[in-house]
Amino acid sequence: MTERYAVIGNPVAHSKSPWIHAEFARACRQDLEYTLIEAPLDGFRAALDAFRAAGGSGMNVTLPFKEEAHACCQRLSERARRARVVNTLSFGARATSGDTTDGVGLVTDLRNQGVRLKGARVLLMGAGGAAQGVAGELLDAAVSSLVVANRTLSRAQALAERFPGLRACPYGELAGQEFDLVVNATSAGLQEEAAALPPGVLRKGLLAYDMVYGRDTPFLAAARAAGARASDGLGMLVEQAAESFFIWRGVRPETAGVLARLRGA
Ligand code: ATR
Repeated sequence: MTERYAVIGNPVAHSKSPWIHAEFARACRQDLEYTLIEAPLDGFRAALDAFRAAGGSGMNVTLPFKEEAHACCQRLSERARRARVVNTLSFGARATSGDTTDGVGLVTDLRNQGVRLKGARVLLMGAGGAAQGVAGELLDAAVSSLVVANRTLSRAQALAERFPGLRACPYGELAGQEFDLVVNATSAGLQEEAAALPPGVLRKGLLAYDMVYGRDTPFLAAARAAGARASDGLGMLVEQAAESFFIWRGVRPETAGVLARLRGA
């Protein structure tokens, strides 16, 4: 029987997830259907319940519902409990289970790009849901330091209290600190803005990674201008999808070809 999945968000019309999961399903010979659901901002729970009642097996959750999804789960993976955000729901007979695959997605994409995380000095920009979803996995990768900077410092401090090993720092005090990797987890690029990094932070020899995909953000442009390597978040998108697919189907799809076709499209 064809099992049904969907990505739920708002806005979600431009999501590449249906295409990615269709590619995975074809390659892994899995009989599934994967659609888009745009829920009203105050209608996440109702949309989830309706999809589940109609026989849905699982959902990916994207902005702005990842925290609400976390609250809807009767069971949580260890990493979802730690992150307090959920992007992968599985509907069982008795319980809804939640997991978060963004952190694995980021770390896997970085490794695919040849980044050595062990011992790396990492700066995480932003302290919202996107940053929460990846902080734990960056720390697990044995980075030598992880600093979180945020426009609203109190949010960075709150995040640092939740994740032992994470240190909060105002943007203005980053000058003179050296990093090997800077991950932009702010939504600033979506508004065509760049968070205020002091000059010198972006430099030759580091990788600047924006979790946003499909556009050249001011952050990536600034990184390139400073001689740094720059990467958008398309690889992370494919890798988090692969991890969700594995949770649902028990098979691990090949990702390199899917990413290459997405880039070529
Ligand atoms: P998400 O789930 O995408 O993380 P969020 O929880 O609304 O969304 O968080 C957005 C993040 O982007 C926050 O860290 C926010 O900073 P504040 O906490 O100070 O609001 C950051 N952000 C958004 N626009 C920004 C901008 N123009 N400059 C710097 N940071 C910005």
